[in-house]
Amino acid sequence: MKKLSLWCAAALLSISASASLALTAQPYIATSVQFHQTQQKADMLVLLVPADTTELKLSGWSRATSNQVNRALQVAEFNGKSGSKLELVAPVGLEYGRLLLLGIGNPAELSRAKAEELGASLGVHVNDTSAKQVQVSSQLITDTTLNTEITTAVAHGMELRNYRFDRFKSKPAARPAQQYRWQVADVAASQARYQQLHALAQGVFTARELTNLPGSSGYPEAFAQYARQVLEPLGVKVTILGPEQIKALGMGSLYGVSQGSDKKAHLLIAHWQGAEGQPIALVGKGNTFDTGGYNLKTDSASIIRMHSDKAGAAAVVGAVQALAGQKAPINVVAVAPLSINMISGDAQLPGDVVTAGDGSTIEIGSTDAEGRLILADGIWYAREHLKARVIVDIATLTGAKVGALGTVYSALFTEHSDIEQTLRQAGERVQERVWRLPLAGYEEITKSRIADRINTGSPGAQAGAIFLKHFAGDTPWAHIDIAGDAFNAAAKGIHPEGSNGYGVRLLTEWVSLYQQSAE
Ligand code: BES
Ligand code: MN
Ligand code: ZN
Repeated sequence: MKKLSLWCAAALLSISASASLALTAQPYIATSVQFHQTQQKADMLVLLVPADTTELKLSGWSRATSNQVNRALQVAEFNGKSGSKLELVAPVGLEYGRLLLLGIGNPAELSRAKAEELGASLGVHVNDTSAKQVQVSSQLITDTTLNTEITTAVAHGMELRNYRFDRFKSKPAARPAQQYRWQVADVAASQARYQQLHALAQGVFTARELTNLPGSSGYPEAFAQYARQVLEPLGVKVTILGPEQIKALGMGSLYGVSQGSDKKAHLLIAHWQGAEGQPIALVGKGNTFDTGGYNLKTDSASIIRMHSDKAGAAAVVGAVQALAGQKAPINVVAVAPLSINMISGDAQLPGDVVTAGDGSTIEIGSTDAEGRLILADGIWYAREHLKARVIVDIATLTGAKVGALGTVYSALFTEHSDIEQTLRQAGERVQERVWRLPLAGYEEITKSRIADRINTGSPGAQAGAIFLKHFAGDTPWAHIDIAGDAFNAAAKGIHPEGSNGYGVRLLTEWVSLYQQSAE
């Protein structure tokens, strides 16, 4: 009897211990998509219409049906301009309830980003109808290569927009649940391409989910465990270092930021070894909440969204998830230093000195410049322990970046033109654009009177970058400051409201481009 109750107590204990980590990661299926050669009965037929289409006649349409549709086209002055829509009750004789014409402009000039946006807006439109079965026809895009590119990009854009963060709703609104059946020119090619994009979307969803988590839910260990749940089934090797290991490895810069919290620092390492050789390392700032520490963020506007200060870490996790999901033949590793910047009797003080993993000392000019403190050790770990061949770090690092560039561009700092070029190209492609700011001339701004360097300086974005550069040593390195970029107050284009997964698409594209350019 006694034994039994002891066992019960132990079981209860282990339940409650894991309940605090009860963030379950389920694959997020935003949209059901199938590709076929032919059309089928449905609640709605969506027709992708190229620019300057004035006459519509699809295979299987009678003369009377075409006449009726073309009359509507004329009356509404619909000509296939990109983004234009015309919804009709489908003419008698067609096996659809509604007919939606979606203008796509000139197919040869339609960028991937624009096609994705069209998909997002199509999804929003359909979500407002009662249609459950949606047939999309791409018959009017006759070039097979363009047909594949456009149809899959439109479907991908819709999938990205249809994500919902409803984990904390007791009664979540129904998620979009239509079945989309695409008529395409090359079924196999579209399926293969969409699979790649779907893997990318899954990475974006993970990043959004992680970034959206409130501070007390997405603390360092919970973040790391969530990433493990998502990544391990894909064949990614996940290592999580706890606070004692971090201390033992000498990473006092990472450790110090969370020392005042019950929730201590963790270091997440997620390795997709799709090829041999030295890995490409992506290092993301994972400060799971930023109060500022003793340099407290004192106005509510500056502290309110600081749960999204882990967007960089979320981006590197999402990118590795995408690359693993794509089975990319690339050796890539995500490193996420995870912290929570909080106050207590044990918290770091302004003016303190910490020792980083590389043995160098840092004066804490501001406890609120915590991102560079955790990244310093993350970057050093990637160089020293993972022997990375190139390191790109990504971080919601400075308010100064927002002042300089707003959210139209993220700020790029690098001395390597091959990294710059490939990042710019990747950014253009996915509309997560980077703008390079200079490092040269700012070498002195993080000099400290009492330690090797200080974590503050002016101008602010450069101070962060110069500080980080030291920890990359001779390894080719770039720093991307994404402050302000990872959160949308309102839904727009391919992004729902809230965290948008910024950086996943940029880094996933970049890794592939960089790999190709180095081959
Ligand atoms: N997480 C913030 C940067 C930030 C600001 C991100 C606004 C998103 C929106 C970062 O840790 C921070 O507090 N930076 C300070 C640094 C300063 C104290 C040297 C800043 O930029 O004001
Ligand atoms: Mn801060
Ligand atoms: Zn921060």
